[in-house]
Amino acid sequence: MCFIFRLIAVFCLTAASCATDNPFNADGCGPNIYGETLSRPTIGRLMEFPWLARLGYRKFDEDSIEYLFQGTLIHPRYVVTTVFAAGYNRNTLEFVRLGDYHTETDEDCQEISDNELCAPPPQDIPIQQIIRHPKHNKPRLANDLALLKLLNPANITTPFVRPICIPTDGNIPLNEFAALFISAWCGSVKSGISVVPKQYRMQLISESLCAEKLASHIHIDFDQSQFCAVMDLDKQQKLNVKDLNLRGSTGAPVQMLGPDGSFYLVGITSVGVRNAPIEMPYVFVRVQEMTEWLMQTVVGEEQKRKWT
Ligand SMILES: *[C@@H]1O[C@H](CO)[C@@H](O)[C@H](O)[C@H]1NC(C)=O
Repeated sequence: MCFIFRLIAVFCLTAASCATDNPFNADGCGPNIYGETLSRPTIGRLMEFPWLARLGYRKFDEDSIEYLFQGTLIHPRYVVTTVFAAGYNRNTLEFVRLGDYHTETDEDCQEISDNELCAPPPQDIPIQQIIRHPKHNKPRLANDLALLKLLNPANITTPFVRPICIPTDGNIPLNEFAALFISAWCGSVKSGISVVPKQYRMQLISESLCAEKLASHIHIDFDQSQFCAVMDLDKQQKLNVKDLNLRGSTGAPVQMLGPDGSFYLVGITSVGVRNAPIEMPYVFVRVQEMTEWLMQTVVGEEQKRKWT
């Protein structure tokens, strides 16, 4: 009996499609509560992206906290971000803030069909451990993924904090026809980082075109752990939004709606050019290629937690 269980366990750790041991995509992951599929406003709304995490760093020699960069909740106890963001500022990353919206108000409220809806206070959860992808930087800038293991589980009984779904089989086709949305507190050097999350349509482009456009700024040896995309704005948005830039969005999610109508995490902002003009591409972590490592690591860590 034991032998059979063992076989099943090993099988599940290596097959990305194993349903019994998939720690992700619990009921209610990645809700699309505003219902739109193709066109969404550039200013994010309350509850729209309940998986967004802000990263809190302890300021050196000071008793204050600085929020920089972002992460994405993929499980009540795990947030993903980039290796760069996880190690920034002499490794002073201390906690994640979940369920935030307006970064300068204590209580976040919004009118929804004549009713005022207010979010509960954000949840600050200490980080127990940072687990970097073992192949980070091989080749250079590749596998830019870090898993933040939280000390306590997030309270996901509220619609303001909820994990996004993770692509675990081939039915989230990331290609040039995919409607991709990035959401992040971000902005140009001039405009500053936005106080509420922005969201932009993104368009996947080929690695060769991307490498060409980035060539005078940065050299990247693309591998399967990355993809490249540019902002994909309609005419109206281009007229309305000046000075557009994803600065500050390191670690932020690129989302795509799956066939079940839920949002899936397909990318994570990894590399961009400083003061990038609007047509400059950005490089993202290709989450689909990371699913197996994420599953194995989360299952392994949760087993450790049970036995210690
Ligand atoms: C989780 O959040 C809900 C709604 O804000 C609250 O009623 C509940 O007490 C919280 N649970 C825990 C364990 O904190």
